[in-house]
Amino acid sequence: MYVPRFMYLIIIFSCFLLFHNHVQAQEPLLEICSNTANYTSNSQFQTNLNILLPSLLSDGTRDGFFNTSIGTSPDIVYGLVQCRGDISMEDCRSCLNNSAVEIIRRCPNRKDAALRYDLCILRYSNTRFFSQVDSDLQSLYNLENVSDADANRYNRQLGNLLNNLSTTAASVVTKFGAASTDYSDFKDIYGLVMCTRDLPATECFSCLQITIGWIPSCCANSDGAQVFSTTCYIRYEIYPFVQISSPSPSPSPPPPVQGKSVNVVAIVVPVIVAVILAAICVYFITKRTRKNRRKRKPELIYENDIRSEDSLQFDLNMIRTATNDFSDANKLGEGGFGAVYKGELLDGQEIAVKRLSKNSGQGSLEFKNEVVLLHKLQHRNLVRLLGFCLAGEEKVLIYEYVPNRSLDKYIFVPARKADLDWEMRYKIIGGIARGLLYLHEDSRLRIIHRDLKAGNILLDEEMNAKISDFGMAKLFGVDQTQGNTSRIAGTFGYMAPEYALHGLFSVKSDVFSFGVLLLEIVSAQKTNNFHLSGLPRDLLSYAWKLWREGNALQLIDPTLTHCFSPNEVMRCIHIGLLCVQENLEDRPTMSSVVLMLNSYSLTLESPSAPAFIIETTTGAQESENNHSTSSSLLYSVDGVSFVKTNPR
Ligand SMILES: *[C@@H]1O[C@H](CO)[C@@H](O)[C@H](O)[C@H]1NC(C)=O
Ligand SMILES: *[C@@H]1O[C@H](CO)[C@@H](O)[C@H](O)[C@H]1NC(C)=O
Ligand SMILES: *[C@@H]1O[C@H](CO)[C@@H](O)[C@H](O)[C@H]1NC(C)=O
Ligand SMILES: *[C@@H]1O[C@H](CO)[C@@H](O)[C@H](O)[C@H]1NC(C)=O
Ligand SMILES: *[C@@H]1O[C@H](CO)[C@@H](O)[C@H](O)[C@H]1NC(C)=O
Repeated sequence: MYVPRFMYLIIIFSCFLLFHNHVQAQEPLLEICSNTANYTSNSQFQTNLNILLPSLLSDGTRDGFFNTSIGTSPDIVYGLVQCRGDISMEDCRSCLNNSAVEIIRRCPNRKDAALRYDLCILRYSNTRFFSQVDSDLQSLYNLENVSDADANRYNRQLGNLLNNLSTTAASVVTKFGAASTDYSDFKDIYGLVMCTRDLPATECFSCLQITIGWIPSCCANSDGAQVFSTTCYIRYEIYPFVQISSPSPSPSPPPPVQGKSVNVVAIVVPVIVAVILAAICVYFITKRTRKNRRKRKPELIYENDIRSEDSLQFDLNMIRTATNDFSDANKLGEGGFGAVYKGELLDGQEIAVKRLSKNSGQGSLEFKNEVVLLHKLQHRNLVRLLGFCLAGEEKVLIYEYVPNRSLDKYIFVPARKADLDWEMRYKIIGGIARGLLYLHEDSRLRIIHRDLKAGNILLDEEMNAKISDFGMAKLFGVDQTQGNTSRIAGTFGYMAPEYALHGLFSVKSDVFSFGVLLLEIVSAQKTNNFHLSGLPRDLLSYAWKLWREGNALQLIDPTLTHCFSPNEVMRCIHIGLLCVQENLEDRPTMSSVVLMLNSYSLTLESPSAPAFIIETTTGAQESENNHSTSSSLLYSVDGVSFVKTNPR
């Protein structure tokens, strides 16, 4: 059958257009519209932003990167654009032009926003963000997995590839690297890594390392994924999505179709063929789209304002007004370090105010430094610290207000247990795990919570878990993950034995508390106030007994009888028991906990016996299996944090 050559060209060209449009219409990978500050219409800030965006566009398309600022404080606006290192300037321009329009449409009136697409990033803010790493990652992963047979070699090669790329990318001015490597005889992995060019080499490298380190938790076994923050980006696929060598000129458009006189058959036949081919083409596009469909996994939120000590300081009178002078009516609760009050600032923003007990024993300078550090910890699953006040004896911390109170107000209150169905509980468990992982493994600060318990997990409008009271004890340098303290701050029943008895704390003592909390969430029983007659006196012994008997599922809160996934529940109990093992070496790290929670195919080890520390009526403490004995821990207050000096 005769089909004129030009018909093929038309079909291919329309295929190209269809596909091209599909790419154009895509959603941004990352959309951050910070709601910490807004500008009003016709303000100086808006004028500056209106100057900034076109200037980023014109200067950014010269070599794919530009950063600048417009105006003066307080209306200054900082901006940055960057395109992927392998694309043509035309593609760069079109991506940036689209971003400049979209950022205003998607983030109206925001003083701080960022959009990242596959091909470019645009970011502006009222605070200077240049050369600072943003380690708050999000990820997208392909739903398709690599085959089990290939998985080992795939993971090894992927790790090598990305590590090699990040070393080279960090050291070059474009902060971009792309390469491929094979992982089986016929299959290759294509990888791309990049930082925004304002980052110095060391910051770029560390940002990429954090990003690569996230892959096992977000995207294990996927045959492709993208992990990114506002400052760095990695992507890998098993097909060539990136130009590996230096960018070549963009493909020349198809030659123009020339008009020729043709007979009727020569028109009709090609038209039919064209329709068939177009159908095939649409089929392949949808197939490809489906194959590449990704699941969005926003893990972390963007760290939007790293402010100086001064801007974090609130005026005490303002806080007094906001809380009705710390009135009892505003009191939300009393914790180990002081009372917490609800407040409302003049602009209507609700806050939670923690008035630290007078004997918090810390100098002002030390206090301020800690607040500045803690303020930098921002994560979806952490309660946000907004600032502090310091006036004479008075030390106050100001937090975001989290409306739904704490987890213990649900799981330990008979009338409210049923308000948390299994799905919510499972989401809460995942949230706590991710928040704790962030505390433990964030690159800059390494925080051991030391008092993780149901009362310190707050729930937001959507019942997402937010860890509170972190960083209250002590801050650590990056490599210091263990310590020995004579000041024990914690809550009985949640404390790992090595901590309760010897003041030894580490990320693994937090893991222990997490395990206890997990078992509490599943069973809706309090670890240190366990009432089921005729059964072991504490939750851990009870859980362990059921596990040994093969009846672990009986641990579940009876209010959940009908609607839960037995697999998920069993897995949670299993993970919980792994976390509360007596030997801290045997307990998993939070990153493996997150991985275990996410991946059902992973086989878990069998837990060994938990550490049994139980509270006796005299308040002395004993060990049921004589695993350990000590008389140093003499008092505890039910469910309330206490601080004790260990006489060692
Ligand atoms: C800014 O505007 C957004 C949307 O209108 C709002 O949610 C946010 O609370 C505002 N932020 C401030 C600080 O006013
Ligand atoms: C752009 O970023 C670099 C690197 O952080 C910084 O040194 C430079 O001052 C920035 N440019 C402007 C105009 O702020
Ligand atoms: C950006 O796109 C708009 C319309 O889509 C066009 O009018 C404008 O000229 C473009 N600007 C640049 C700098 O390419
Ligand atoms: C890929 O693996 C994950 C868990 O490892 C599983 O949930 C998912 O269904 C798998 N996807 C496919 C397409 O097999
Ligand atoms: C990474 O670099 C090492 C040493 O330069 C090299 O031997 C190895 O083949 C590289 N791996 C990949 C996957 O590119």
